[in-house]
Amino acid sequence: MINPETDRVLITGAAGAIGTALRTGLRENWRHLRLTDIRPVQDLANNEESVVTDIADRSAVETMMRDVKAVVHLAGMIGSYTLEDLFRVNARGLFDVFESARLAGVERIIFASSNHAFGCYPITENVSPVLPPRPDSLYGVFKVWGETMLRNYYDRHGIRSVSLRIGTFRSLPIDQRSLATWLSPADVGHLVDVSLRHPDPGCMVVNGYSNNTRLKTHDPNWATLGYQPNDNAEDYREMLRGKGVDVDAPDREAWEWPEHGGPHARVAERPAR
Ligand SMILES: NC(=O)c1ccc[n+]([C@@H]2O[C@H](COP(=O)([O-])OP(=O)(O)OC[C@H]3O[C@@H](n4cnc5c(N)ncnc54)[C@H](O)[C@@H]3O)[C@@H](O)[C@H]2O)c1
Repeated sequence: MINPETDRVLITGAAGAIGTALRTGLRENWRHLRLTDIRPVQDLANNEESVVTDIADRSAVETMMRDVKAVVHLAGMIGSYTLEDLFRVNARGLFDVFESARLAGVERIIFASSNHAFGCYPITENVSPVLPPRPDSLYGVFKVWGETMLRNYYDRHGIRSVSLRIGTFRSLPIDQRSLATWLSPADVGHLVDVSLRHPDPGCMVVNGYSNNTRLKTHDPNWATLGYQPNDNAEDYREMLRGKGVDVDAPDREAWEWPEHGGPHARVAERPAR
């Protein structure tokens, strides 16, 4: 178990959307937070220190691992990116963070993986993390690679980890799909908190969703971890309806996309070099 009172936790990508929400969720109970991002992190609390650096800078990453017991690795390219940036940050940068953590004696890694690790499963299949990955994009392939690295780190080095297959993280649901895939700011804080506190998660892969009525996945690891999400995207159905989102059809029985990855599983792949 990582001790919130005494152990230092490093959060990469801390200036981003999830990093900002996490800080709100963790900083009251986690006494030693080290935050890093390529951008400055705003409004530091007394128990937060920050390091501005590119995770591609291996020596800077090694330096900031000192006295760290657990790493929450969020830094990464999302949305639109070049192929080079995807390799540099989501592959090489991830390797350097994990490897520096191993060399520094870090005991636990929480990794922001993605639902795109299994996005090619048909939506009619009620998938769980025990099934083999079926990534829907190169982005998803690198998320699976991160999960696989952590399997190796557990088997060879005993480093415990939780890979979070995050759905749609937003302050509120944004479209019909996110009625099933939403992960709320409060629930992501709770999910990371229980992933850090659990005495022995082994090498776990867990779905990162809120308690949505329309969930199309199931995950026995929620009970193992003690993850009890509070928020439900369905509570925002009327808000979405008011914005012109078709919240009634076709999602009563089917999905607007045939795969779990939604549009990711269908859009053109391979950004230009
Ligand atoms: N937002 C979602 O719905 C979602 C879903 C699944 C997985 N994820 C994963 O969660 C993580 C965080 O996502 P987010 O929504 O907060 O994205 P975000 O873009 O808001 O945050 C990512 C952060 O990483 C930082 N970063 C990028 N390149 C860096 C580099 N070279 N060195 C240091 N920092 C760098 C960015 O500055 C940014 O602050 C990502 O790894 C993403 O793939 C997000």
